[in-house]
Amino acid sequence: MATPAITDPSGAPSLDLSTGPFSRDRDPMNTPIRAAGPAPDRARPQGPVPGQLPFPAPACAAAAPDGSAPGTPAYVHGYSDGEARRLGDQADTLSRLLHAGTAYPAGSRVLEVGCGVGAQTVHLVNGSPGALITAVDRSASSLAQARAHLAAHAPHATERVRWHHADLHDLPFPDGSFDHLFLCFVLEHLPDPVRALTAVRRVLRPGGTVTAIEGDHGSVVFHPDSPTARRVIGHQVRLQAAAGGNALLGRQLQPLLGAAGFTEVGVRPRTVYADASRPGLVRGFTRRTFIAMVESVRDEALAAGLTSPADWDRGLADLRRAAEPGGTFHYTFFKAVAVAPAARPADEAAPVAAPAPPAAAAASGRRPAGPRTA
Ligand SMILES: C[S@@+](CC[C@H](N)C(=O)[O-])C[C@H]1O[C@@H](n2cnc3c(N)ncnc32)[C@H](O)[C@@H]1O
Repeated sequence: MATPAITDPSGAPSLDLSTGPFSRDRDPMNTPIRAAGPAPDRARPQGPVPGQLPFPAPACAAAAPDGSAPGTPAYVHGYSDGEARRLGDQADTLSRLLHAGTAYPAGSRVLEVGCGVGAQTVHLVNGSPGALITAVDRSASSLAQARAHLAAHAPHATERVRWHHADLHDLPFPDGSFDHLFLCFVLEHLPDPVRALTAVRRVLRPGGTVTAIEGDHGSVVFHPDSPTARRVIGHQVRLQAAAGGNALLGRQLQPLLGAAGFTEVGVRPRTVYADASRPGLVRGFTRRTFIAMVESVRDEALAAGLTSPADWDRGLADLRRAAEPGGTFHYTFFKAVAVAPAARPADEAAPVAAPAPPAAAAASGRRPAGPRTA
């Protein structure tokens, strides 16, 4: 698929990267993963039944080999070992900040959408000790790592988690199969988050909740400030946009969830602030999460002609000063919780697998009912 041109909010000329590194599929191991359970009995009380897997059954035996919708753009961070480590550092460092308030009842059926290498899955199972987690991702290699990660870090919970190789736009589960949905750092990589949220809402039961957590690179404030370092962060934002994503998505969660037909949308900012008095955060977040993420797109930024090696290296060196003694770093995540409406709106009454186009949801005039603690 042709990659969209980069548009620069400052008005600088657009770059066409359709022949650049963004056009390739970075998942090297697209083998399907199969995991299945029996169809859920909607009448029984929620909870495991002895001898029976209590997970929603997939509507088909296995996903397509790469599990992705046609034309799905590449994932900007890629699927390297370094990125897997970065996701782990991020999840572990931020677990208390991001997972606080997320605890699902025993027996409830939770779908983690875009589980990646299982970095958040470990914290989900620990925060909800009796919940039944189904985790999906379009990357088979990430799913394989996720299984291993869970087995290593939460061996007590492996029986409570099922893994599925699938694209979130075409989930292999019947309508209303889950009580809760959880998405962390996924929407920011998708070209049409409203379409994605509408698609995942199909598998959520009426009254069930969705929790979505996203970052927003516009929230970055650091000391010592440096325009060169800020430009380097801007290159990452532009590259993510070129790959079909939006690194500034956190601020949009409320309207996006409303447009996708969710109600009672409540969004709370979750701020990370790191200085020398919090060495764990400096190491785990400033260095190993944020700076590592920016560092990882160096080759792409150079290949796209966004910067020169000298400017890039200078910007990175300046950014690293925020993680040195005397430096400070601030970032805000946004965590949203919303509810699936009791009845599916009339404009979506027909075939379940085909999500309503975003325009239809927006045109229906649905608006969130009120705030909710996230
Ligand atoms: C930044 S990673 C986040 C992983 C995990 N949620 C975490 O916080 O560590 C985004 C994940 O979303 C997955 N993803 C992106 N688009 C997807 C799609 N259309 N269907 C399923 N998974 C998708 C990617 O494969 C990747 O593993």
